[in-house]
Amino acid sequence: MSNPWSRWLQVNDTALFQLSRKAGWDAFVNTAPRADFATLTVEEMARLGPEESEDYAEARAVWNANPPTVRTAQLTAAYQVIDDVMASNRRDADKLRGSVVIDAEPGLGKTTIATRYAREFHRRIYRRYGPATAAGDQRLPVAFVTLTDGITLKGVNQRLLEFYGHPAARRGSRAELTALAVDCVASCDTRLVVIDELHFVDFAGRHGTEVSNHLKGLANELPVTFIYVGVGLREKWFFDEGLIGEQVVLAQTSRRATRCPVVPFTTATDAGARAWATLLATLEPHYKLARARPGMLTDHARLLHERTQGRIGSLTTLLDRACARAITGGAESLDARLLSCVPVDNAAEQLSHSA
Ligand SMILES: Nc1ncnc2c1ncn2[C@@H]1O[C@H](COP(=O)(O)OP(=O)(O)O)[C@@H](O)[C@H]1O
Ligand SMILES: [Mg+2]
Repeated sequence: MSNPWSRWLQVNDTALFQLSRKAGWDAFVNTAPRADFATLTVEEMARLGPEESEDYAEARAVWNANPPTVRTAQLTAAYQVIDDVMASNRRDADKLRGSVVIDAEPGLGKTTIATRYAREFHRRIYRRYGPATAAGDQRLPVAFVTLTDGITLKGVNQRLLEFYGHPAARRGSRAELTALAVDCVASCDTRLVVIDELHFVDFAGRHGTEVSNHLKGLANELPVTFIYVGVGLREKWFFDEGLIGEQVVLAQTSRRATRCPVVPFTTATDAGARAWATLLATLEPHYKLARARPGMLTDHARLLHERTQGRIGSLTTLLDRACARAITGGAESLDARLLSCVPVDNAAEQLSHSA
């Protein structure tokens, strides 16, 4: 195949790995960053044949939709909290470890923080100890589990076993599944378990209390640090374990868990405005448009903040779509008009109209 863009797409297309399976997680950890490619000028684009042109547009769409992870202040602060808690990860197995709770509204970068941290952790452990455990099993320093609505205790165990690719994930009683999950964690020498979308557990309900007790039990039993990720976990009583009144004081989770909030960018303070401008300046060179120019984003810092309320997830969605329009419409750059008219996600849309 001679079309360079279609060749490029074969190696750099959208990554479809599933993080909640060990093979997908492994791919996420070990896949090299996308190879960069030259942005063509308008004249060079005019010389492409129709298929080349289509594939080049696709290659750019994939590229533009995958901005690099920016080391925002939010990410750095969260890493610090996780590092602090992980310091006790080195305690011997008979001593209790703490856990981290990344608790914030959607689209603020919670999953990004947890997965990138866990990826770096995975790489460090591999470098130090290699890919096999002392007993010769595959080493999996990190397990990543995503919960779904109304999940039960059995469901949590199933998810964990599915990550390890255990054939019994779909069978077995609750107790058996717990035992198997404990086995998997132990034999793969897992040190960090990330549980994402924890808000799907209704901690005030019966299932929720069970799940909460179960997670506490696992944390007691396993020499592992847990990172819990979710939306409104404080409001959902995660820290109280569904207890009310004076009993709350007894809730063990509160004392073992360190809450790590993730805040949106603000432009209300000078430092905040600078951080927002820096984020835009960092993202700006990523986008491949033939008429891209420096200042294409930073000149519109206010507008972009209004439209996204400083939420990084809404921002990347907006930029993604704006670039797609700049490509299909032929503008090949971003301006105030384009940035004002592309739709953002629902939540950001509603808030920017009410602001
Ligand atoms: N540090 C970051 N750098 C660049 N983009 C980010 C960063 N954090 C989040 N994003 C963008 O925001 C989107 C939503 O982030 P995500 O981590 O899924 O949020 P949450 O889990 O809080 O809903 C991501 O898909 C990504 O495009
Ligand atoms: Mg998330």
